Amino acid sequence: MKKILFAKPSITKKEIDYVNDAVSNGWGENCYDYIHRFTDKLKEYFNSPYVWPTSSCHGALHIILMSLKIGRGDEVIVPDMTWIGSVTPVSWLGATPVFVDVMEDSLCIDPKKIEKAITNKTKAIIAVHPYGNVADMDAILEIGKKYKINVIEDAAESVGSEYKNKKVGSIADFGIISLHGTKMFTSGEGGAILCKRKDLVEKISLIESQGRKSSRRIDFWVDEIGLKYKMSNIQAALALAQFERADDIIKKKIEIFNWYKKQLSLINDITLNPKPEWVKNVYWLPTIIFGKSWAMDLEKRNRLLENLNKKNIAARPIFYPVSSFPMYEDCPENTISQRVFVSGINLPSYFEMSEDDVIYVVDNIKKELNL
Ligand SMILES: Cc1ncc(COP(=O)(O)O)c(C=O)c1O
Repeated sequence: MKKILFAKPSITKKEIDYVNDAVSNGWGENCYDYIHRFTDKLKEYFNSPYVWPTSSCHGALHIILMSLKIGRGDEVIVPDMTWIGSVTPVSWLGATPVFVDVMEDSLCIDPKKIEKAITNKTKAIIAVHPYGNVADMDAILEIGKKYKINVIEDAAESVGSEYKNKKVGSIADFGIISLHGTKMFTSGEGGAILCKRKDLVEKISLIESQGRKSSRRIDFWVDEIGLKYKMSNIQAALALAQFERADDIIKKKIEIFNWYKKQLSLINDITLNPKPEWVKNVYWLPTIIFGKSWAMDLEKRNRLLENLNKKNIAARPIFYPVSSFPMYEDCPENTISQRVFVSGINLPSYFEMSEDDVIYVVDNIKKELNL
């Protein structure tokens, strides 16, 4: 039986040619060629003045937080419904993540609740754009400005989505993206820092180069303790090919979502990824949130997923609220994060998927729901 994966990158001759070229020729004096080309491509794609490719999105966030001198005694606001990758570097630096609830439709951090969570220790807000959906950036930036708090956009899951015609990740002063193999575009593992703050360019460069100033690279002098999350030239070759095909990849993801939307249209009381008129949603993962009338609980949702998995359909659950992990304190007030966790599922979406695959997935969902 055919397996319907939840994600899989689209690898064409272009990707293979670029990677072959990097492996064959990208050494010695050519060892940064693809890194430079990819960096320029990201600057153009995001219209972002300062960019550093990294080995992961986690690394990108770690470097930004460190360059902002965030550490012990500081608080960083994050949405409770996100992947732990939005939070781990905050904890590693000794700062305290403050978990704020998300909105029911977009699953993005709720700006109204951010303001209530601000204290005199708050140093940053991490605005995550989950599953292709887009956070309310004007409202979040307004709060950042009012309280003089840095805003970092975590666009790991939504590369290509737009807010008011601007690519997410490039709207706030800082943005991060992921190029993990399941994401919109991939370099295998990878990510990037996007930055608009000229005054922090030197600091970020210093940290991401293990504490070496560019003028002192040759004699190995180190000025401070930095980090090492570099992307390799080979990974950059793969990522460059992917971004050169960005329009095609995004077009297909939107098409897949629209097939789902059509097939799911007769099911009552469900919400799919929203697309307000000021948003372009690339629908990294089509997501169903079952409304209250479905009385979804953990058992019912798990049964649905298990039975879909038995049919070779790799649907998966919405993320646990991060505050429910043993390292953190529970946040019972984050009722929406808790509710969507038990009542939401992500559906498969990848470039090679056909409309028939989508019909197969939805037919099986309907069977499981006795429709
Ligand atoms: C919202 C979010 N932030 C950060 C990350 C971390 O990305 P990476 O695996 O590239 O470090 C992920 C990865 O899944 C993510 O989904």
